[in-house]
Amino acid sequence: MVVITESSVKIDLKAWENKITKKLEVFYNPVMKFNRDCSILILNAYGKKDLQIGMPLSGSGIRGIRFLKELKKGKIKEINFNDYKEDFEKVLEKNLKLNNISKKDCKINIHNKEANSFLHESSGFDYIDVDPFGSPNPFLDFSARRISREGILAVTATDTSALAGTYPKACARKYWSVPLRNYLMHELGLRILIRKVQLIGAQHDKALIPVFCYAKDHYYRIFFRNEKGKKKVDEILKLHKYFLLDKELGFEVSKFNSLEGKEYAGPLWTGKLFDKKLVSKMKKEDYKKVIGSGNKEDVKFFEMLVAESKVDVVGLYDVHELVKKHKIKNNFKFIDLINALKKKKYKVVRTHFSKYGIKSDVGLKELLGIMKKV
Ligand SMILES: C[S@@+](CC[C@H](N)C(=O)[O-])C[C@H]1O[C@@H](n2cnc3c(N)ncnc32)[C@H](O)[C@@H]1O
Repeated sequence: MVVITESSVKIDLKAWENKITKKLEVFYNPVMKFNRDCSILILNAYGKKDLQIGMPLSGSGIRGIRFLKELKKGKIKEINFNDYKEDFEKVLEKNLKLNNISKKDCKINIHNKEANSFLHESSGFDYIDVDPFGSPNPFLDFSARRISREGILAVTATDTSALAGTYPKACARKYWSVPLRNYLMHELGLRILIRKVQLIGAQHDKALIPVFCYAKDHYYRIFFRNEKGKKKVDEILKLHKYFLLDKELGFEVSKFNSLEGKEYAGPLWTGKLFDKKLVSKMKKEDYKKVIGSGNKEDVKFFEMLVAESKVDVVGLYDVHELVKKHKIKNNFKFIDLINALKKKKYKVVRTHFSKYGIKSDVGLKELLGIMKKV
């Protein structure tokens, strides 16, 4: 046995493979701990109890086992683990035992099916976690069909190079949109992915509204709340627009169809990325304990997302790019610029999408004026 510990849970890494190799990332990827932490924070903050949970791509089962250990009492009515890997049942039984989880604690079902068959044969779930390697595309249709009203659909994509503009043709084929490859690429890539998932939801009259999203390491992550109803779906579709970047690095969103000669991305989601109220509840869920107080970078990252949820605007200014483009000589500190904007009553936050980025309701002209004076 080679046992690793993540938060409250132990996993035997040798349960599948005999050797510890790179291949084990398929089984357990430590980089994704924050991704799992966020699932716990969301589900604990979310009002619903007695959840029926579906994990079509369980891997080692660590996420679901953490749910069993870390979600509040009464949250889980039933949890369904699935993975098509050989011996999955045996592996999961072993890991449940390692964590002293008895199948009597709540209804735990283990399936060894192809993910779409698992979803298709189910009667639906209040939480579905689509956590594949690469694109979530193959699993979106059945997940959208099976997510319940007011349920949460969580989607991970690790094929960020298509979404962030390294391979625009792949983005067109897989995500039906045009990406941009510059400092805006991760925000725009995430918004392209959101629209794609929403279009799949729309086919089933389901309005998939993002409540918490981010881009981190090599992946994008989005949690959607499913609201049923044709009207809500129509409202979502109205927010699928283009993002236009001008030569001065100002930007706007537009339904505009003649894009010739313009630098643009889209169509993409131009609505909110966060449900502010839910995010502030997540923050009250003792997030430092869930993420681990020793895990300072992830704690800071989460706090940055909480701050960002309060200035939820489309697009960002990259201060370094602006300094270069407009040949601004002033050698100001980032924090002084933020304070100067706040003093002028603009909303402003740093953004996780770009190291030198800010999100603000300030216009480009005003921003450049302030940058020259700080
Ligand atoms: C990235 S891992 C899942 C990690 C896990 N969710 C976690 O939080 O640690 C993806 C898993 O999906 C499984 N998988 C991939 N395609 C599948 C399919 N079509 N049906 C069922 N399982 C699949 C793989 O065997 C692998 O264990």
